[in-house]
Amino acid sequence: MAQLWGGRFTKETDKLVYNFNASIDFDKKFYRQDIEGSIAHVVMLEKQGILTNEEKDKIVKGLTGIRQDLENGVLEITDEYEDIHSFVEANLIDRIGDAGKKLHTGRSRNDQVALDMKLYTRVEVLCVDELLKELLETLLKIMEENIETYMPGFTHLQKAQPITLAHHIGAYFEMFKRDRLRLKDIYKRMNYCPLGAGALAGTTYPLDRYYTASLLGFEGPTLNSIDSVADRDYVIEFLSAMSITMMHLSRFCEEIILWNSNEYRFVEIDDSYATGSSIMPQKKNPDIAELIRGKTGRVYGALVSILTTMKGIPLAYNKDMQEDKELTFDAIDTVKGCIALFTGMISTIKFNNEVMAKSAMAGFTNATDAADYLVGKGVPFRDAHGIIGRLVLYCIEKNSSIEELSIDELKSISEVFEEDVYDKISLKTCVEKRLTVGAPGPKAMKDVIKLEKDYLENDGINMRKEIYIHER
Ligand code: ARG
Repeated sequence: MAQLWGGRFTKETDKLVYNFNASIDFDKKFYRQDIEGSIAHVVMLEKQGILTNEEKDKIVKGLTGIRQDLENGVLEITDEYEDIHSFVEANLIDRIGDAGKKLHTGRSRNDQVALDMKLYTRVEVLCVDELLKELLETLLKIMEENIETYMPGFTHLQKAQPITLAHHIGAYFEMFKRDRLRLKDIYKRMNYCPLGAGALAGTTYPLDRYYTASLLGFEGPTLNSIDSVADRDYVIEFLSAMSITMMHLSRFCEEIILWNSNEYRFVEIDDSYATGSSIMPQKKNPDIAELIRGKTGRVYGALVSILTTMKGIPLAYNKDMQEDKELTFDAIDTVKGCIALFTGMISTIKFNNEVMAKSAMAGFTNATDAADYLVGKGVPFRDAHGIIGRLVLYCIEKNSSIEELSIDELKSISEVFEEDVYDKISLKTCVEKRLTVGAPGPKAMKDVIKLEKDYLENDGINMRKEIYIHER
């Protein structure tokens, strides 16, 4: 058991207590961030005259060596250390001797772990954003190719009005675009450096917190040392944004599962993204879509868990906060996996355009347009609504659609119908006439696609790509 404290203790820690308290099993995940934070700290300490140039060089070399050895597999993080901070410090002292004991000058594990978690989360915000961008590019491509692919639009899972595939996919484009905007916003708010806050009350050493912050690519230092060590808002915000992304993915998956069913047959999932049954030879199951839908609960769980952990914690740091890590790491890995797999699935899926168009023609999706046709001929809308209602009833009895009726049959319901009705309520016209911004009409759709292209090219998180400090 290697720990950073013990001077005031007369007994060994109970083994169960030690294991219960230790976090090395999971915080080893951010060894890189811990080392980068330490390097920035000692560089600042030297600039401020708190360490000599020689001490700084020794420490930086030692820390860099630890990182390299870990990356090359020469060194292993084992559970004889309490946490990643203890592991790095103990290894440093082993390597360089007394100078290593100065690393923790003017620092506490409280501000150190706050920094590590923030550095780790910050990179992950960027990774999730990049994955979402790739998904958006994939969706935009599908949209461009399907401006005139007709399909029914639904409300209450009942056919409502005709739309296009581009329009339907475009709805998801908006969702994932908002998800990216949320990440950008979170990134901006979280990008302040907690290091230098000490245990909770700053330190008496003349630290230059602005300098440390700039070395680590932050906007600046956090402005209250108590809040610096007690804040996990950015974790909660990130989990919340990821929960929303999962909710969006889950809805999309639910539709794909429906569309891929024998009843709909709107799409066919590519063999490479489907699975079979051990007993039923005919089966091709949408497991990936189902799993993404299923994993949504897991990400929500992480959000609710951290919200609950944080709600009763008095200021400043309390050990409860160690619970921020495992579920957050798991949620991040889950979300990244789900976005990547979904992108692969949707980019290889086959859309059955004919089936979709046929489905749009059945089910009276042009009933609203038929009513609007009568309005165009001077019938008040409420009356037109009633006439078309009766017409639909007539069609249901005859098992036909509105456009399949003869002009005489139409006239028997209302004298106002004329030959031009067939063109006016055709699928093509119904969609083409919908030209308001955001509507499915091909012209309106093209304008929107242009705006979205522009957004994809010019917007995103403005982050220095190399946010780690590398060799110096
Ligand atoms: N493993 C701890 C955590 O994750 C590190 C901070 C420990 N600080 C302390 N005062 N015990 O939160």
